[in-house]
Amino acid sequence: MKAIILSGGKGTRLRPLTYSGAKQLVPVANKPILFYCIENIVQVGIKEIGMIIAPETGQEIRDAVGDGSRWGVTIDYIVQDVPGGLAHAIRTARGFLSDSPFVMYLGDNLIGTGIERFLDEFNRSKPEALILLKEVENPKQFGVADVSGNGKVLRLIEKPEVPPSNLALVGIYIFSPKIHDAIDLIKPSGRGELEITDAIQELINMRCNVESFVLDMWWLDTGKKDDLLTANAIVLDEWLKGNISGTVDTASKILGRVSVGRNSVIRGSTIRGPVVIGENTVIENSFIGPHTSIGDNVRIIKSSVEHSVIMNESELRDIERLEESLVGRRVRIVENRKTHKALRLMLGDDSAVEV
Ligand code: DAU
Repeated sequence: MKAIILSGGKGTRLRPLTYSGAKQLVPVANKPILFYCIENIVQVGIKEIGMIIAPETGQEIRDAVGDGSRWGVTIDYIVQDVPGGLAHAIRTARGFLSDSPFVMYLGDNLIGTGIERFLDEFNRSKPEALILLKEVENPKQFGVADVSGNGKVLRLIEKPEVPPSNLALVGIYIFSPKIHDAIDLIKPSGRGELEITDAIQELINMRCNVESFVLDMWWLDTGKKDDLLTANAIVLDEWLKGNISGTVDTASKILGRVSVGRNSVIRGSTIRGPVVIGENTVIENSFIGPHTSIGDNVRIIKSSVEHSVIMNESELRDIERLEESLVGRRVRIVENRKTHKALRLMLGDDSAVEV
């Protein structure tokens, strides 16, 4: 069994963050989403991973992930020259996959469990494709499945106007090599992509066995700001372990589960967990938390931050209360209304500010 992780694509929904970086590297609880995907694959014993990358963001992904040795696996990089769709990505990876069955994992999906039971099901019933489904309230935004009582997939449609069920396709699939024959038969969809849903539908038309597995834990397609903040809160709630490596002075209070990275300094502040703070960060005379992730090399001075994600190298000074915010890298937010009535801003395209 091999695996491919899809880390190409355009990443329009998390703009402006994804103008300057790959969406799969946006951090949740200070760890890139992509690393959760890699860990789930490594955990089931798969040793060969193909990483699909786009020409624009591929180098950043290579730099962050490396050759896989830190997880004891090999990672091959496969450049997809255009974001031609999920089935196009498989076609691009054909040489790497050879005739092996494989897991396909979308690099921006986060699930609240490992994939052991999903893989066991594939090995037990040996279908040509096994898809992971989750009941959702808004099926129109996803690929949707029509499934029989015993889990056999009858029909699949990508982002349907009238969904046949509320079972959405989670971005994790397991295929036999038969999927390549199906991909050779499909044409680009209305949005110009070779859709994996169409390829799986083609398998069904070929009378191949396509089965489903319903996920009973949470799933977050971390597409937008609020999804990302929710993912951050859930991961901190469920998986964060308290661990103080940095320095906390006696005037500070740490409440609940808090992780403070190496060389970080907390002075005169209250941190209410769950909160993760990265390395080389300074928090002074501030209140942080709950459900907040602060990256590396951040400065937070005389400010209050709740339910937020503050990425590396940013600075907050004299900010009375910041909440439900997503702050990218190298951002500076300072209060100056003592001398100035007006706001002074320098914001990139697609920024959103509520004042
Ligand atoms: O998130 C689950 C949904 O993912 C499924 O319900 C849909 O059936 C499936 O088509 C897919 O829909 P999206 O429209 O959300 O896919 P998106 O374009 O966001 O791409 C998903 C991931 O795959 C993302 O990490 C980027 C990567 N990708 C995407 C394309 C189109 C590639 O690596 N290459 C590509 O050509």
